[in-house]
Amino acid sequence: MKKTSSLPLVPGKVRSHHLSPTGIDGTTANARFEIQVFRENTFRVRVSNQKAWQANPYSVAIGPEENCFEFEEDADYLVLKTSKLQLWIGKGNLSMVFKTPSGEVISEEDPDFGINWLGTEVSSYKKLQEWEKFIGLGEKNGGLNRYGQTYTHWNTDHFAYGTDDDPLYCSIPFYMGLHHGIAYGVFFDNPHRTTFNFGAGNNRYSYFSAEDGDLDYYFFHDTSLPAILSAYTHLTGPPPLPPRWALGYQQCRYSYYPDKDVIRLAETFRDKAIPGDVIYLDIHHMDAYKVFTFDEARFPDPAGMIRQLKKLGFRVVVILDPGIKADTSYASFAEGSAKGLFVSYPGGKPYEGQVWPGWCTFPDFTLPEARTWWGQALKFYTELGVDGFWTDMNEPATWGQTLPNVVQFDFEGAGASHRKARNVYGMQMARSTREGQEKQRPDNRPFVLTRSGFAGVQRYAAIWTGDNVSSDAHMLAGVRLVNSLGLSGVPFAGYDIGGFVGNCTPELFARWISIAAFCPLFRAHTMINSHASEPWSFGEEVEAIARNYIRLRYKLMPAIYAAFYASHTSGLPVAKSLALAYPFDDRIYHGAYDSQYLFCENLLVVPVQSHQSLTKLYLPEGDWYHLFSGKKQSGAREIFWECPLNYLPVFVAAGAIVPMQSVTQHATDAHDGRIKLHIFQGKGVWQQLIYEDDGSSNAYLTGSWARRTVQMDHDHGLLEIGALQGNFPSSYTQAKIYFHGFSDQVAEVGGKRVKLDVGNIAFLDEIAEFDPLPSGDHDFQICASVPNLTLNLDASAQTVRLKGIG
Ligand code: GLC
Repeated sequence: MKKTSSLPLVPGKVRSHHLSPTGIDGTTANARFEIQVFRENTFRVRVSNQKAWQANPYSVAIGPEENCFEFEEDADYLVLKTSKLQLWIGKGNLSMVFKTPSGEVISEEDPDFGINWLGTEVSSYKKLQEWEKFIGLGEKNGGLNRYGQTYTHWNTDHFAYGTDDDPLYCSIPFYMGLHHGIAYGVFFDNPHRTTFNFGAGNNRYSYFSAEDGDLDYYFFHDTSLPAILSAYTHLTGPPPLPPRWALGYQQCRYSYYPDKDVIRLAETFRDKAIPGDVIYLDIHHMDAYKVFTFDEARFPDPAGMIRQLKKLGFRVVVILDPGIKADTSYASFAEGSAKGLFVSYPGGKPYEGQVWPGWCTFPDFTLPEARTWWGQALKFYTELGVDGFWTDMNEPATWGQTLPNVVQFDFEGAGASHRKARNVYGMQMARSTREGQEKQRPDNRPFVLTRSGFAGVQRYAAIWTGDNVSSDAHMLAGVRLVNSLGLSGVPFAGYDIGGFVGNCTPELFARWISIAAFCPLFRAHTMINSHASEPWSFGEEVEAIARNYIRLRYKLMPAIYAAFYASHTSGLPVAKSLALAYPFDDRIYHGAYDSQYLFCENLLVVPVQSHQSLTKLYLPEGDWYHLFSGKKQSGAREIFWECPLNYLPVFVAAGAIVPMQSVTQHATDAHDGRIKLHIFQGKGVWQQLIYEDDGSSNAYLTGSWARRTVQMDHDHGLLEIGALQGNFPSSYTQAKIYFHGFSDQVAEVGGKRVKLDVGNIAFLDEIAEFDPLPSGDHDFQICASVPNLTLNLDASAQTVRLKGIG
């Protein structure tokens, strides 16, 4: 018999309970509990052995609805039921069993010690279901299916991390589970260091634990995985629509300086007709790395430089590090100290740690006054014309990688040690930065790119995956990290194209930028003293490949913008892991295929390594068209596909409508007035949204937009271009419609018979052979003889009939 002191404390028998319009609460022998029914598909479970709840004030954006459940009780259970989900609360020893409305078990805690405490550590042990799979959990390395692995949430500055290392910079304690055709989600809303075990080292349980705080989790169930993910994003707040320019190509390096080099960089993009939207200023823009300063020798006239860049169609994003140099002659330090805005030791002496500027203090972003102060300080940059901010080192990072746990944070007045505040610190820095921008420039959509974050960070910022390495393994790991962030409520994410650490090879850069053209955040970045990573830095051949894919990105802008808008309304990602569309197809979880994903709904992107010229890939069910050659393939099978360096394997779902436009040099540059609708012959009815607004203000939130739905009924050969809705003027005066895979030669438009044109389409330009040492013949792929039609557009709806024309 083990000593009782080693045994876990369990809640014990339910002693009392009390119903309310939002749920039920009660006491047990050793604890208290509260269940809140937030929505029909979203239940919150809280259990504590302490007197007061220790809620996280930062992640959840909504409250529970009233009266959306029914209650029943029998000898063993208290039962809460909605039309989507049932919770059976075991009364013997408090435990939670979630069931579908028809009574199938979704998830069940161990009846004896499902909820338990070992010291301050609290856990929920859930029985592993047969063939259970686990996906999501945010910025986590490893495969798509996380079964058999264990992960920790503890925001960490991990320079040159390995592709299996954990933890990284950002913590999102939300995952989804799948078994027997049933899907569910769990969000453990506890900011302490948490552990998620998905059947690692045992064959009985998946469990999650926090080193302190409450067992406070949300359980989601609905009929589809996207509905579950939407419920999570709804709970933690929808991602706002980014400014349109932030969806273009972004160029970064540690660091571009002086100002002349920055201007030259922008001019080179334009000279070479390589589209681009953003240039970043990394830490060398500052005077001795002091935030809210410019180095006067390197940047004597930042406002003038930014004006010049804007004329060239470029925006400037500057880096912000939280470390404030501890130097009494530095205004930000003096002000922050006088107002008591820095995190401190017990007793009030500010904590100091070393970062780029030397010894630094750190604003307490969990203190409302510090957030306001930071937001006001941003004026320094916004008045110079800076359009966006890059919040880095906000785990927070210090040399030595350790903050003493006794360091104190305000935590919205509740007070918290570093143990509780660390994981939310970066997110609160991103929040202050966003809110500051909103204040300084109310007519402009903010842009924040953050390294660290927590659940709900999508409300404030995009995320990049930190200091990756120039290798094929990292390139593919980055794709999986971004897809996993997408499965965790963060649609706007990306990786450093070319790798931050190390020297990228020409082949690797070519491949990486081709893949990244289909990544929500499209940014190249590299470290100090490494090989440059501008698109032209690897010779003419790679430059031509990079230009091709960057141009394709801009041609796809109508699809990308519509996907971001859809993401804003649904909370679903722009780069979608195949698990969202095919959750119960085992093959998508296979290590060879689990980096594949859908971009903008219907483009199947197959990331391949730089040296591969042939790959095996998996086409899920349905038919697929190879984007570049128009060749049709049947799905639900693995195929071999050639992937020369200039052609990444990309397929389009048969049936889909992909909207494109002419190439522009930046995302707010005028196009030629035509929306190009590429329709790929298939079955059933398919829809695509065309969404436009001013691209820069928040007027879209109050209805200032132009929307049209295009619908193709393949079975009846009927295309409908919906009427224009909204009060924003559309920029498209014509539609050019390409019918891929159709054999039709005539159509009926507005009652008139029209002969279709026929032409070839190349989505990528031909690569020239470069003398004197051509590296080999470059394949040139076209979609041959595609029937097409041009229509003039006005606000009314139009119909194009392909079948049954007399
Ligand atoms: C960190 C960032 C990196 C940045 C560097 C210098 O390592 O992750 O992107 O370039 O700091 O600011």
